[in-house]
Amino acid sequence: MSDELRFDERAAIITGAGNGLGKAHALELARRGAMVVVNDLGGAVDGSGNDTSAAQAVVDEIKAAGGIAVANTGSVTDPAAAKRMTEQAIDEFGRLDIVVNNAGILRDKAFHNSDLENWQAVIDVHLTGAYNVTLPAYQHMREQGSGRIVMTSSPAGLYGNFGQTNYSSAKMGLVGFARAIKQEGGRKGVSANVIAPTADTRMTEGLLGTLADDTPPELITAVVGYLCHDSCELNGEVLACAGGRVARVFVGATPGIFDRNLTIDMVAENIEEICAEEGYTVPDNVGDEMGLILEGLKANPKD
Ligand SMILES: NC(=O)c1ccc[n+]([C@@H]2O[C@H](COP(=O)([O-])OP(=O)(O)OC[C@H]3O[C@@H](n4cnc5c(N)ncnc54)[C@H](O)[C@@H]3O)[C@@H](O)[C@H]2O)c1
Repeated sequence: MSDELRFDERAAIITGAGNGLGKAHALELARRGAMVVVNDLGGAVDGSGNDTSAAQAVVDEIKAAGGIAVANTGSVTDPAAAKRMTEQAIDEFGRLDIVVNNAGILRDKAFHNSDLENWQAVIDVHLTGAYNVTLPAYQHMREQGSGRIVMTSSPAGLYGNFGQTNYSSAKMGLVGFARAIKQEGGRKGVSANVIAPTADTRMTEGLLGTLADDTPPELITAVVGYLCHDSCELNGEVLACAGGRVARVFVGATPGIFDRNLTIDMVAENIEEICAEEGYTVPDNVGDEMGLILEGLKANPKD
């Protein structure tokens, strides 16, 4: 116990922390010494309604266990309310070190039956909500020279899922978001990493089948807590986690083919080789991709 990673003197914002994963993150970080802004508007899984008692109940639980926390009942979709989260951390705790973007809703529908309202609602909470909360926090962290940001993506975003074009788009958007923050924030001591969890919460009620009993939120918190800790040197990475499994997920590029006179027919003839995974690389940034293009050009001089 004595050598466990601690968060004393660290302040965290955790969005959507009134239930499920966010609640587990808030309780554990607070147990390990963090001062936590517990944000939750207390809505239903589809985002409807609100109940200010959700955030307060978690704050009460943290305080009863001797921890430090304050409730925030704003919506991540409201830029002013999101900015208030950073201000609240600084007003109440004197600092801000950690943001876990976790608030989320579902509006599932097969794409052919989808509508703009449900598309927008899901993008607003997951992707724009993370933007709203992260921007003021990031500005503060950048000045401070340190900070840890965690985005909550999903296997549905990384791999795609039936009925979830809105959710999958938002969740993959968060990967690009974190990858771009990595490029900008890394040199300022700010990291942004991503989790792609699977866990038994109200959001997945009835969906996980036999996995439900073995996928408690606390096993996701183990990964989030590590990514939030000062000692974590990862930046821009995606960790899939569930039931105690933790694995890195990355975007790889196959060696493919290179021909300066490429035609439609050549792509068709070589599509298997283009897609073959052997010898793939994992570009770190756009510069790496440009390097691969340059390499190909050099190896294939003009006739
Ligand atoms: N449970 C899983 O298996 C799973 C899988 C992949 C991704 N996720 C993601 O993990 C996150 C947490 O989900 P969960 O499973 O704990 O679900 P949950 O429904 O238990 O918790 C989500 C919380 O977010 C809050 N919330 C929703 N909209 C909000 C808003 N606009 N502002 C502030 N709070 C808001 C809700 O009130 C709720 O308490 C979500 O982003 C979800 O998409 C969960």
